[in-house]
Amino acid sequence: MEQPFYIRPIEEKDISGLATLHSACFTKDWGQKELRNLLDHGVIGFVATDDNATICGFVLARIVLDEAEIISIGVLPEKRKHGLAENMMRHLLAHEACVDVRALFIEVEAFNDAGKRLYEKLGFQRTGSRKGYYEIAGQRIDAITMTLTL
Ligand SMILES: CC(C)(COP(=O)(O)OP(=O)(O)OC[C@H]1O[C@@H](n2cnc3c(N)ncnc32)[C@H](O)[C@@H]1OP(=O)(O)O)[C@@H](O)C(=O)NCCC(=O)NCCS
Repeated sequence: MEQPFYIRPIEEKDISGLATLHSACFTKDWGQKELRNLLDHGVIGFVATDDNATICGFVLARIVLDEAEIISIGVLPEKRKHGLAENMMRHLLAHEACVDVRALFIEVEAFNDAGKRLYEKLGFQRTGSRKGYYEIAGQRIDAITMTLTL
């Protein structure tokens, strides 16, 4: 049986666990200071927790009027492929903060098949690319820009 998980808004007490989770998901760490700074400046976010209240996933988004941008999304490696990211995205889209949103944007590394497939499943379409947008382990990596029109 699938383990249950719960999605709720990020709280101050989550910042430390969130920084740890972020570093398990991305090569470029965001420390607690950076995460707090985002949340203090209009970024909203949700975490997915398991039965033990362990944070297993997060999504961060910036909403400005009728547009929104996914700043980051990640799931603990051992909790992936159980629908957490998809559910967090659907939770975000259904949230009252998104009621006026008509377009949602995301940038994803060109090689990131899991990310691209996730967004495609949610209805995002590829709308462009940015050459050498990311620097990962000393290499320039293209970004794919994807858009969901609501
Ligand atoms: C991308 C990521 C957030 C997906 O999280 P997840 O909880 O495993 O995703 P879900 O289980 O909700 O998957 C939803 C859909 O995404 C796609 N998907 C997810 N992981 C995939 C993988 N490894 N390969 C191919 N498709 C994948 C599938 O379409 C899947 O639907 P399906 O299960 O019906 O096939 C996760 O792999 C992750 O944290 N990666 C590292 C951080 C990252 O790359 N974030 C995105 C940067 S833009």
